[in-house]
Amino acid sequence: DEGGGVPTMLSHHQNHGNQSNMVEVAALTGDIFAPADSKFELVAQWKEVTLASGAKIDAWTYNGEIAPEIRVRQGDIVEVKLMNKDIDKGVTIHWHGYNVPNAMDGVPGMTQNVVKPGQSFTYKFQAKQAGTYWFHSHQQAAEQVVKGLFGSLIVDPRSETEAYEQEFTVMNHRWDTDQGKKTAIGYEDQAQWKQIQSGKKVKLRIINTHNQSQKYLLQGTDYQITSIDGVPIQDPDRLSDRTAFRLGSGGRYDVTFTMPDRPVLFKIGDYQDDKKPSIIFYSDAPPANPSFQAESDMFDPSQYGKPAKNEITPAAEFDREFKMILGNRMGFYNGQIHFLWTINGEVYPHTPTFVVKQGERVKTTFVNKSLAEHPMHLHGHHMTVLRKNGKQVMTPWLTDTLNVMPGETYEVAFVADNPGMWMDHCHNLDHAATGMVLHLMYD
Ligand code: C2O
Ligand code: CU
Repeated sequence: DEGGGVPTMLSHHQNHGNQSNMVEVAALTGDIFAPADSKFELVAQWKEVTLASGAKIDAWTYNGEIAPEIRVRQGDIVEVKLMNKDIDKGVTIHWHGYNVPNAMDGVPGMTQNVVKPGQSFTYKFQAKQAGTYWFHSHQQAAEQVVKGLFGSLIVDPRSETEAYEQEFTVMNHRWDTDQGKKTAIGYEDQAQWKQIQSGKKVKLRIINTHNQSQKYLLQGTDYQITSIDGVPIQDPDRLSDRTAFRLGSGGRYDVTFTMPDRPVLFKIGDYQDDKKPSIIFYSDAPPANPSFQAESDMFDPSQYGKPAKNEITPAAEFDREFKMILGNRMGFYNGQIHFLWTINGEVYPHTPTFVVKQGERVKTTFVNKSLAEHPMHLHGHHMTVLRKNGKQVMTPWLTDTLNVMPGETYEVAFVADNPGMWMDHCHNLDHAATGMVLHLMYD
């Protein structure tokens, strides 16, 4: 029995000083009474964090760290105790893309009360899905996520189908530092050098926590994108090293390659302003002048691998159909004239509420009529992408955060199998804060 392992603690910089006055905020429903297999504690706290370059961030963190990792095994009962040390407006944890029971979803004012300084909240859920996920505060997320209240959630499969000898979590974020804006992977805002023996299998778990989509390049080897938003791709094709890929805010790709005997260069498109790589993988000697060649095309998930096994197909019949027209207008926000982001012409909380019944198949159409991209994120469910700009996609894929570019239309569908009250919003968190949010409710 590999289940009942030793509780894992994430927290070496943890302050237990005021723990005795912690007030436990009770969960409403979704309680799991089985003992936990993996336990973590996360203390939300202010911390001045220093990046590798020496740039300093006035950060809000979990456990004083940038991008702490929660790693569990699929099937585990996971318990995470969140404590708030000193974040005035309160915090929560939302498990982005992870289909937890509604009471564990971490949306303040909807699924729980916000956790104020001195309070705590214990999240407990079963880790049913394997894959690459992340977590972040959902209280005033446009400020709190940007300032650092996030980490990765990695769920290892119950039975390991393919072993990767080297694994890296690339959680890239754009920071406001005392030296200006900087993109970093964890603490690394400068090039990193990694020596890997040739022939080893490498996996990069890429998580974009920035409000905007990012372009990525991997050169020196062909590669595969083996999962999108935590969900494995069936028979992923090989991509050439001239193929770039783009990941919307909140999205994740697992990228794999076999280390060749020449260097492999990885770069986040907007990472630094020159052509320097973000990570240089090499087997023998570090390359003298690593640089990139121009890419010749862009990865397209709508024509990749085989369609995922899924009860939703383009031919399926739907019980409900909704449409979300994504737009913008001027209006009042916080008492001032402001640029607002709208769904069907309305600003949250005046946006529509989509009502479904458990078990229904629900189709949603996103139409982007604005000039900005909108990474649309549905809580508690994965959506299957069926059509893009009116045309059936070759390989319907599963996503929890779909980046809809200006002028694009997508038809997606999901099974209403997770009762509760859920958010469906743009993951450009500034757009969400100024209107682009609605609720999905079970009748
Ligand atoms: Cu990652 Cu509602 O958000
Ligand atoms: Cu948006």
